[in-house]
Amino acid sequence: MCGIMGYVGPQQAGPILVDGLKRLEYRGYDSAGIAVSNGDIRVQKAEGKIANLESLIEGDQPNGTIGIGHTRWATHGAPTDANAHPHADPSGEFVVVHNGIIENFQSIRDELADRGAEFSSETDSELLAHLVAQEYDGDLVEAVRRTVALSEGAYAMVVMSKLEPEKIVAVRKISPLVVGLGDGETYLASDIPAILHRTRDFLIIEDDEMVIVTAEGATVETIGGDRIEREVTHIDWDAGQAEKGGYEHFMLKEIHEQPDVITETLGGRLSEDGTVRLEGVEFDDAYIEALDRVWITACGTAYHAGLIGQEIFRRVLRLPANVEYAHELRYANPIIGPCELMIAISQSGETADTLAAARIAPDHGARMLAITNVVGSTLSRYADDVLYTRAGPEISVASTKAYMAMLIGQYLLALRLGAARGTVDEELAQAVSHGLHQLPGAIEEVLGREQEAISAAEEIVDAEDVYFIGRGLDYAIAMEGSLKLKEISYLHSEAMPAGELKHGTLALITKDVPVIVVLTQRAVYDKTISAVQEIKARGGRIIAVAYDTDTEIEKYADTVMRIPDMDDLLAPVAAVVPLQLLAYHVARLRGHDIDQPRNLAKSVTVE
Ligand code: F6R
Repeated sequence: MCGIMGYVGPQQAGPILVDGLKRLEYRGYDSAGIAVSNGDIRVQKAEGKIANLESLIEGDQPNGTIGIGHTRWATHGAPTDANAHPHADPSGEFVVVHNGIIENFQSIRDELADRGAEFSSETDSELLAHLVAQEYDGDLVEAVRRTVALSEGAYAMVVMSKLEPEKIVAVRKISPLVVGLGDGETYLASDIPAILHRTRDFLIIEDDEMVIVTAEGATVETIGGDRIEREVTHIDWDAGQAEKGGYEHFMLKEIHEQPDVITETLGGRLSEDGTVRLEGVEFDDAYIEALDRVWITACGTAYHAGLIGQEIFRRVLRLPANVEYAHELRYANPIIGPCELMIAISQSGETADTLAAARIAPDHGARMLAITNVVGSTLSRYADDVLYTRAGPEISVASTKAYMAMLIGQYLLALRLGAARGTVDEELAQAVSHGLHQLPGAIEEVLGREQEAISAAEEIVDAEDVYFIGRGLDYAIAMEGSLKLKEISYLHSEAMPAGELKHGTLALITKDVPVIVVLTQRAVYDKTISAVQEIKARGGRIIAVAYDTDTEIEKYADTVMRIPDMDDLLAPVAAVVPLQLLAYHVARLRGHDIDQPRNLAKSVTVE
């Protein structure tokens, strides 16, 4: 997500920190800052591009040979100077940069406020600086250790103090952190590309580890305090490979980031018993009980996420729900009542059609909730309520991890609405919560079977047309699989409900025409198999996405891409992954520019 830099050594820290942050610019960010110490700590930070930070520093260079820096992608609080990192405690003796989310943010903030603390930002990160100061009794490492014990969540944090000016202390809890070893100088970063031009020798910090960095090197410990002998990893990637974390393309990297994205999106919002707390979603139970209908509007991949939302809201809430393309809805003169909720979904929060459609809601007295990845985006500013997806910057133009986070956001919303409407009882809430918490592991398993998608890609790479079918939630996934294939491989494809095939399109299914079948919805399994038989009867090739336990499909399928068994309601989250991988590998085999496909922009701000 955000970028982290740190330096201790004989050189001036400021230019090294800024240079490292610039090398992380490609990841996206909305503000940047550094803190440099020469006994006193100087914090300089600015909203917007690193160029703004550079102008601030120009002519007012910080003096000091130890420092930390950060590029922020907003999660708590808008992208402003005040919310930019580093954050200091009120005494200015401790500074912190932080990636990720502190899940018990509100309770920590309330407790600190009760003790009279005043805050200079809206961020969860600032609380860490307050906590470290509160816990300090002469040993920075111990103070950080106690702060970690008080702070729930998935994050990385880096701390520096004027009271122990020779060291930086950092902790990894899921968010990445590496140490770069130099000659009499040591670097710290969230990502290898920030410092790869300075050293090729790294200590990779693992989850639940702490590292104490000095000019002489680094000591790695468990958070509990046990010393770890970490071997030095020599990295021989070039700069381009390093930006992609060793993957060939950002798209593949982002597909592989999806388990962590699910953890981030759920972070602090869903308890084991299924209780959901969504910061930024302000409506109360009385409003939810009175709801007559949910509208969802979006475009492209976000619309496909909305198709899943429509189905889960109908199933879980027993409430009318419609998803509409934003470019259609805006001119459709829809009949929207005041007791209806409009959900607008947009990764960028800047899609012109989605903005226009979303604005219809207030004209009818209805509430508008935005599901978006970009804090402070236009959509989030128009909205009455905002659910941030926390997918982090998505660099590949073809969306994968942002889509995944949109799905998870809608499950959370369904649980929240269902609890208030009485359609989700304790047992169901607990089961869905359990299933959602298991998803990162399940997606890891699917990613471990990438070879199945590669084999399927080899089968269809020379096809002229590909069809995707499924029923219910599987149809929604088929739509997304088809779009992914089209947009990066330029191979014609079409998705349709499995039952629709026999109403005309079957005419196009001839020998060896590939049909991708998604088969996770047990209630309609046999019905979809009937369509599969019709395809087989005409010589079509079947490539299936099916559960591990589905042995029936082997009778018909030429290739099967497997997902672990799970509740049908959550299966779309797993089933889309092999289809993302399939699209990726077809495009790779066809030699396309995967991260920058033709005729598609990351945010479509024109009508
Ligand atoms: C496809 C893709 C597009 C976007 C669409 C909406 O991979 O990225 O279809 O989903 O342009 O964009 P957002 O979500 O930013 O509104």
